[in-house]
Amino acid sequence: MIADPNLSHWHILGAGAIGGLWALRLHSIGCRVTLIERAPLSPERRLQLTDNSHSSCHDFPVVAANAAALPLSPLLVTTKAGDTIDVIAALLPRLNAGDIVLLLQNGMGIDDWLRQQRPDLQILTAITTDGVFRPTRDHLVMAGHGETLTGGNTAVEQETAMQIALQWQKTGEVVQAVTDIQRRRWQKLAINCAINPLTARYRCRNGALLDMPEALSAMRSICAEVAEVMSLEGYPASTASLYDAACAVARQTATNTSSMLADIQAQRPTEIDFMNGHIVTMARKHGIATPSNARITAEIRALHPQPASSN
Ligand code: PAF
Repeated sequence: MIADPNLSHWHILGAGAIGGLWALRLHSIGCRVTLIERAPLSPERRLQLTDNSHSSCHDFPVVAANAAALPLSPLLVTTKAGDTIDVIAALLPRLNAGDIVLLLQNGMGIDDWLRQQRPDLQILTAITTDGVFRPTRDHLVMAGHGETLTGGNTAVEQETAMQIALQWQKTGEVVQAVTDIQRRRWQKLAINCAINPLTARYRCRNGALLDMPEALSAMRSICAEVAEVMSLEGYPASTASLYDAACAVARQTATNTSSMLADIQAQRPTEIDFMNGHIVTMARKHGIATPSNARITAEIRALHPQPASSN
């Protein structure tokens, strides 16, 4: 018999664009939401969302990571991958066995680290194609409604993912629990590996990559290596399918500044260690070389000092 998870009070770690969006969406369906920050600037944060001509806002309580009242579950983690380990490490002693942690972030590697630290937690992952940007820290502007997929690795986690999807669907958004979330995360990772660092290398919008033969050739070699690693990890993929998918996303998001280019422009650490750097780490585990991914990882790392990597 699977226990019905209590999903009435969400804690959100890292309320940036996606975390802030889900704070407002969950509040709109009657959930309590508490924001957790490393060093809160104030005890409340007013988040505002503009979606076409409609605007909504709410004041959320904000607590420091080491002072949040228990229980912290369910905990939605939307921090950038590189910022996650430090701040989750501070929360780990305060999470109980069975607590729900849902990771909704770009890149891969954090869930493996968390499972090693705390195999007793329910660790779910999610990916989204929602587009939202922040003209200011607390103002979110919806660029496009996408789809959010979630899932877990065990039967209990999968059941929880279904409960969460059912709850989140009440916001009117497209949310689904899927049984192959890891495969889908790998596919998303492949697209990020092929687009993000190249937009940073060439300082261009996503669509401009399609007009540069050298960028397309680099995309293809990155995809070939990712396909090899994916296949060794048990998620068979071909170079052509990953390359075509990356080109299609670059076309659909032609005018976007990728998250990695935005990080470079703002002189923030990038997520390279959790994208192409993750490919290099996984390849090494399988005893193969991934020179294109290694080269671009080193190049992007050199543009900005990275936080200590988990990989
Ligand atoms: O990280 C990003 O910027 C996005 O995932 C994507 C798909 C590359 C579009 O900009």
